[in-house]
Amino acid sequence: MGRLIYQIYPRSFADSNGDGVGDLRGLASKLDHLEWLGIDAIWSSPTFPSPNVDWGYDVSNYRDVHPELGTLDDLDTLIADARTRNIDVWLDLVPNHTSDKHDWFSDRPEYYVWSTDIPNDWKSGFSGGTAWEYDARRKRYYLHQFAVEQPDLDWWNLDVRAEFEQILRFWFDRGVAGFRIDVAHALIKDRELRDGERYQRERPEVHDIFRAWQAVAHEYDPKPTLMGETYVPLAHLPPYYAHLDLAQNFAFTNAEFELDDLRPIVERTLKTLPAGATPLWFGSNHDHSRLATRWAFGDEARARAALFLILTLPGDAILFQGDEIALEDGKVPKDRITDIGDPPRDPERTPLPWTRSGDEWQEPWLPLGSTKRNVEDQRADPDSTLHYVRDLIAQRKQFSDDSYETLKSVSGVWAYRRGDKTCLLNMTDDVAGHEGRTLQPWQGLIL
Ligand code: NOJ
Ligand code: CA
Repeated sequence: MGRLIYQIYPRSFADSNGDGVGDLRGLASKLDHLEWLGIDAIWSSPTFPSPNVDWGYDVSNYRDVHPELGTLDDLDTLIADARTRNIDVWLDLVPNHTSDKHDWFSDRPEYYVWSTDIPNDWKSGFSGGTAWEYDARRKRYYLHQFAVEQPDLDWWNLDVRAEFEQILRFWFDRGVAGFRIDVAHALIKDRELRDGERYQRERPEVHDIFRAWQAVAHEYDPKPTLMGETYVPLAHLPPYYAHLDLAQNFAFTNAEFELDDLRPIVERTLKTLPAGATPLWFGSNHDHSRLATRWAFGDEARARAALFLILTLPGDAILFQGDEIALEDGKVPKDRITDIGDPPRDPERTPLPWTRSGDEWQEPWLPLGSTKRNVEDQRADPDSTLHYVRDLIAQRKQFSDDSYETLKSVSGVWAYRRGDKTCLLNMTDDVAGHEGRTLQPWQGLIL
């Protein structure tokens, strides 16, 4: 009950060889720490070979490891080490598009979506302009929902489906225990390429793909987990639970950290999800400003309130690396920006500070932000946010079931019943009282 998934952005987690880029050996060297924290699974952002136009989300080979991050052997070792600590390793599958440097793009053009002219008004997520690019070699346009270097695969092509089922088996055979599925809501497009966003994404046929993947997962014991990056309105989330184990809830993540905004979303989520579906909560990832900045404006008490909520709601939760020390976004000067996104997503991708000196990062690929909040100092301080998070992770395992009920409370306090426990969270800057208890600003209590 209530798994804790820890998202790693591998280039920025831990660097084993001093080249300024985090890597798999670095990650493996921190397993002691992750075990101490009490996590159940690691989800790593992409680890595959990639020209890095979109930092790994443009894959050129789905069956290997990016040389900057390590080797297949390193990944095998990581999986085996993690296993001895009861930590699962999940990878990040990018099935909507490949890199234009993937062999398929030259050798198997039929795997992609083509048109002799620009057939519709679909937009590219990065440029905001048309999602169609002319290819002089093929004398046709190809679809790219993201960068020009990320051509979309044609999921109507059954060979594409067969390829990915084999890719899943390749990794499940190696002990990978789950996948986060990039752009899960938009893999397949309208076959007739009709105008309009509703034909570009959230097509019902996507569920046939996931049905097949779930069948592949069922070939394994224990069954690997499939988690979708389902960037859809809350009301559209339920169908994804038909064949995925977890569907990311962006309505929650994108809410303001205000009681009147968040509580209705949580209540609505729990009402909306089908019976038996596991809710999933997170406040940060590699595409969103970190919760300590976006939700807490740097205030550590407020960041703890956000962490309290994420870790005490029913279902599974994801922490993005650094959340556990209330790490804020890094400041990345213009001349160090690496991301194609607008606004650039570099600030939430800066390296994780392990020590106050920051010496563990030699000329990192993105600037190391403030080391004021770092793992070493917080580990030594029992009153730190790191210890606070660790205690909550231990406590969340004690809830007797996955039930949730909002309780009556004074204004500004969120009170809820969780199994046989009561949670109180003061979501204001003022001291609050609830049934004889005093709550400091942003304080959470489990009773
Ligand atoms: C979602 C990923 O999280 C993001 O980082 C990436 O740029 C796009 N999908 C395209 O793969
Ligand atoms: Ca390295």
